Amino acid sequence: PIPPAFRRRLTIPPVLRPSRSDTTTDYYDITQTVARAGILPGPATELWTYNGSFPGPTIRSTRGRTVKVRYTNNLPVPTVVHLHGGRTPPDSDGYPIDYVYPTDMSYYALHHNPQQMTSDHGRMTMTGGDTREGRRTHVFPLDQRAATLWYHDHRMDFTGPSVWRGLAGFHLHHDAEEASLRLPDGDLDLPLMITDRSLDSDGSLLYPSLDPTLVNRPGVRGDHVAGVLGDVMLVNGTPWPVMTARRGTYRLRFLNACNARRLSLRLDPPPPNGIAQIGTDAGLLAEPVRHDHLELAPAQRLDVLIDFSGYAPGTRITLVNDFDTTAMGQVMRFVVDDGRPEPFKIPSRLSTTPPLRPEDAVVTRKFDFRAGDVDDHDGWLVSHAPFSPDTIAARVRLGTTEIWQLNADFHHPVHLHLSPFQVIARGSEGPGPYDAGWKDTIDLRPGEQAKILIHFDGYPGKYVFHCHNLEHEDMAMMANFIAT
Ligand code: C2O
Ligand code: CU
Repeated sequence: PIPPAFRRRLTIPPVLRPSRSDTTTDYYDITQTVARAGILPGPATELWTYNGSFPGPTIRSTRGRTVKVRYTNNLPVPTVVHLHGGRTPPDSDGYPIDYVYPTDMSYYALHHNPQQMTSDHGRMTMTGGDTREGRRTHVFPLDQRAATLWYHDHRMDFTGPSVWRGLAGFHLHHDAEEASLRLPDGDLDLPLMITDRSLDSDGSLLYPSLDPTLVNRPGVRGDHVAGVLGDVMLVNGTPWPVMTARRGTYRLRFLNACNARRLSLRLDPPPPNGIAQIGTDAGLLAEPVRHDHLELAPAQRLDVLIDFSGYAPGTRITLVNDFDTTAMGQVMRFVVDDGRPEPFKIPSRLSTTPPLRPEDAVVTRKFDFRAGDVDDHDGWLVSHAPFSPDTIAARVRLGTTEIWQLNADFHHPVHLHLSPFQVIARGSEGPGPYDAGWKDTIDLRPGEQAKILIHFDGYPGKYVFHCHNLEHEDMAMMANFIAT
């Protein structure tokens, strides 16, 4: 175990510039490539990256303009990129078997053993299909509210090890409603990707794969089936970093990009003017919600405003994680500079998106998220079934609203592609303190039964919903729905 140092500077992922733009569209190029970075003192760490950096470069988009990204796969294995939280046509959503095969097939050809595959690959999927060209262009209409989105690898059976190696980045989406609020921007708008990782003494990332080649058998060794946890806490790819904060109000966009670790974040000492949550997975809340701490399951985002001018100059503030008492109980540090306080008034109304009404639901469906056997091994199931690209768990109509009742045996952060939702109940209680607004991932707790209200809208096609504990996802806790 390595103790938190708070010596290295927090870095902000670079914002990607379009390769070109026309009247409607911005075009980007992202190459998935092996890169090396000094994560801990000692030997450098080999990563799988988008454009050489972990996190990948940030894309900033604005509602009304289409984004097209050409992804080139120079990694040894197939990849599939998904824009998490994006309302995306099915052929650009990164369906888990819409592989982009490597530009150089030699590693894959050497290790790939079709007899060991758990599923057939490359069949007709009603989605984008696979490609042997080594690249694919995804089209993102992004006709959706401003929100903190992120993109990451989604290859069937191997999302856990691929994201663990570095395939994740931010996509910050803006719109006119958000702009009218004049929220903190520039260096006061701070995306913070929190990830835990483990490293070997030779600098390599440790991940307990059943199949270290990462091409045949999915899953992790027995003692990790509940999810892989690391013992180094990284923010934007740097372990336990430090940042000098201006004496102004920051918009901190927290993303839990851990494979399996849940977080309970708090500032110590607490900010004198409190923590105001202004946004969640799928955009701004109707009005700010006050918290003294922030609970965040894998894949979830919370946008908060923190007024650092309330602290005395020079104050050292630790971002702690109360779900752990070891080194993983600390995340990063802020040191307040001695500048002049910059006043900011938090708007009392943020967004006017009308809430959904349960009485508008046309159907109630039930899904069970539980442990179970997959091919005689430990696995995780949705309503007793392991994921298969060919099994359809629900057929939904675009333009309608549904209630989904979700039952869990364990912590399962359940995520739906295509359509955001609102949490309406947890057991006999109403929504929890972090359930406000439009979500794309709900943090289900052991033994819990929650109800969500989903408005299906967007594009016809086949999409997935799944547990975002990435080991659960890889061990088959995923299912399909078809929207028509
Ligand atoms: Cu963040 Cu289906 O994924
Ligand atoms: Cu799960």
